[in-house]
Amino acid sequence: MQPETRQQLIAQIRSHLANETTAMSDAVFTNPVTAYASNERLELERQTLFRNFPLLLGLSCQLPDPGDYLTDDYSGTPLLLVRQPDGTLAAFINACGHRGAPIAEGTGNKKSSFTCPYHAWTYALDGQLLRIPGEAGFADINKHEYGLRPIPVVEKYGMIWVIPNPAKGVEAIDIDDYLGGLAQEYKSFSFEGYHHFATRLIEPKINWKMGIDGFLETYHLRVLHPKTVGPLYHTNLATSDAFGFNHRMVAVRKTFAEVSDDAELEKDFLQHTIELYTLFPNTMFVYQMDHLEVWRLFPSDNNPNQCKMVLSMYTPEPVSGDSAQRHWDNNLRLALDTVEAEDLPLGEKMQRGYRRGNPKEVTYGRNEPALAHFHRSLEQAMGLPDR
Ligand code: FES
Ligand SMILES: [Fe+2]
Repeated sequence: MQPETRQQLIAQIRSHLANETTAMSDAVFTNPVTAYASNERLELERQTLFRNFPLLLGLSCQLPDPGDYLTDDYSGTPLLLVRQPDGTLAAFINACGHRGAPIAEGTGNKKSSFTCPYHAWTYALDGQLLRIPGEAGFADINKHEYGLRPIPVVEKYGMIWVIPNPAKGVEAIDIDDYLGGLAQEYKSFSFEGYHHFATRLIEPKINWKMGIDGFLETYHLRVLHPKTVGPLYHTNLATSDAFGFNHRMVAVRKTFAEVSDDAELEKDFLQHTIELYTLFPNTMFVYQMDHLEVWRLFPSDNNPNQCKMVLSMYTPEPVSGDSAQRHWDNNLRLALDTVEAEDLPLGEKMQRGYRRGNPKEVTYGRNEPALAHFHRSLEQAMGLPDR
């Protein structure tokens, strides 16, 4: 984060603390509950947001070496990322040109090629089809047309985005433009040097957007989390800044007010705050103290009432030795426990109401500006009428 940004945020937070205020939007915003529970809305989201927008897939450290690969099915399109011998990244639809079997599973490293598990067609790391066993049976086809289908991918600031739609053309991502002014901030974080600790999946019975909503206000902290995060952070106090469809919210630890010297606060800003970035459309990027949590939210297949929450935790230093391992295991457990034990059980009850149309509308207060920005951005991105 640039020093000027920190200084501005410190001034805003000091003012909120002194006046017991929080960042406010212009007006209360309401959303029909069908946005969280209808099949039509989900289908629109799947066809637009999860196909035609850049989705954050992870950090560069997950594929450091040539031949490293990573598969990802969460968006509804099977994706394959491969680190090339020249160090660049390529992304493909993970489907064999023969009959569509996935040619790779999970993560790993391939020296030079992928072999399909069905009939052993073989592909180079750059997606070209190299070999067809019993090739005489396919004498009529043009092998060049049967390579893996590339999709747009960009790697910048130690982060990786893809657009799952091959029709977009591989040059389609201008990520600095997409970050809407956050590019320099992300550059300053030096995520290139981070390390992947672990990734975990949970599948709560809530709409995927409700999973994001839970991060986007501090209004509920004291009430829903009185024993866990509630005592650590100020309730109903946060900054709010929009960057195109993206958003930055800074929540404030109780320790913030104990530091009277601005220069010291500026130096230790992350010790006294937590940065919650919404990276449109489906990622919460939670940056705190000594680590980074990336929560990616996806609708479960064709079900608006269930989602996949994929949590990846990254650390600035590699985790080595038993005590470091235990420390980070505990951190990961804590991140999941708060959400699983406190947010999700209530969320699942709310979602059961949403399915039956209760209430008709949900309301985001002026003190919850990040929520209004998120839901407005979604509507705009999907071409829904302004309201
Ligand atoms: S589906 Fe891949 S070789 Fe047949
Ligand atoms: Fe919560």
